[in-house]
Amino acid sequence: MAILPIRHLPDEPGLRRKAKKVSRIDGSIQRLIDDMVVTMQEVGGVGLAAPQVGVSLRVIVLQMPEEEPIAIINPAIVRRSGEQEVTEGCLSVPGYFGEIARSESVTVKGQDRQGRAIRVKATGLMAEVLEHEIDHLNGVLYVDHVESVDKLHSVEELEGGQMEI
Ligand code: NI
Repeated sequence: MAILPIRHLPDEPGLRRKAKKVSRIDGSIQRLIDDMVVTMQEVGGVGLAAPQVGVSLRVIVLQMPEEEPIAIINPAIVRRSGEQEVTEGCLSVPGYFGEIARSESVTVKGQDRQGRAIRVKATGLMAEVLEHEIDHLNGVLYVDHVESVDKLHSVEELEGGQMEI
């Protein structure tokens, strides 16, 4: 397993591209997942999308505090409901946080690392992370959801506790 460098804006154009669907789940995809998990753990993150490590494929990993990591290949949101206001940051846009609205709960379907169909229901932080990571697969960043400049803050303005995902 290898810790991969996390790509940032504006150096990585892949962060603004729509990632490709994974058509065949093989050892190289499983290795990518393993590397993404150790990379996420190394930076203390709760989620990571493949374009953040320079791979334009539809693969995300996430890990809620005190839980095991989850990988979802070709994730798609099939249901969303409610709304939550969050202060969100991104490992690929370091130093800033934005106040945005996310769904309070989502249902995501996709495939696990063996290619089996999975369905994940989530609320709160996990719903936020799923929306954030799936946005990455579509070239969308949280800053695109920030409605005005006064809702974007540099890290120095905040008291801490916000997460970059
Ligand atoms: Ni991010």
